[in-house]
Amino acid sequence: MGAISHNAMQRLLAVLVVFGVAFAGPAMASKLKDQSGSDEPIGTRSILSPAKVAERTAPDAKVCLEGEECGEASAAVAAEAVAATPEDLYNSKCSSCHVAGVLGAPVPGKADQWAARIANGTDALYQNAIGGINAMPPKGGCADCSDDDIKAIVDFMVGQSQ
Ligand code: HEC
Repeated sequence: MGAISHNAMQRLLAVLVVFGVAFAGPAMASKLKDQSGSDEPIGTRSILSPAKVAERTAPDAKVCLEGEECGEASAAVAAEAVAATPEDLYNSKCSSCHVAGVLGAPVPGKADQWAARIANGTDALYQNAIGGINAMPPKGGCADCSDDDIKAIVDFMVGQSQ
């Protein structure tokens, strides 16, 4: 057998093997499937298969950080954060000074401390709360409060104080 025909034989064999795998593989797989009577794909039937193990060991809940893509749960949390009421914002951002009247801050609920301020008009209250007035820093120091947040909190404080 010469060198050329030997190579030709090898090529022929290679082609036969490739075709053999291509046709016999799926045929055998479908036979296996038929015999087991299971609808699940091969490789996921055993309780020890990676898919089943992952299913069994999946955590009940998942922690995810702000800015991370992590499904509906995080969207719900984000919606909750947006839905903070003016009262919540007042409690977290403004009460540190206003509850105790620190530095002369008018205390919500004490109408006498608010009467003169309210008499100046709502716009003046908004403007002073947003821009700051004397010892009160702009927006009470709340950097992430929007102007509308501040106006809503002021409305809440005034509502408590009339
Ligand atoms: C660092 C303390 C401090 C914080 C925090 C603070 N305030 Fe004040 N606030 C003051 C002081 C002091 C005054 C009184 C200023 C004055 O009239 O001399 C005041 C006054 C006000 C007034 C009356 C303004 C006017 O026109 O008379 C409003 C309204 C107000 N604050 C809203 C808020 C809101 C809303 C927040 C939270 C986002 C807030 N404050 C947080 C100290 C604070």
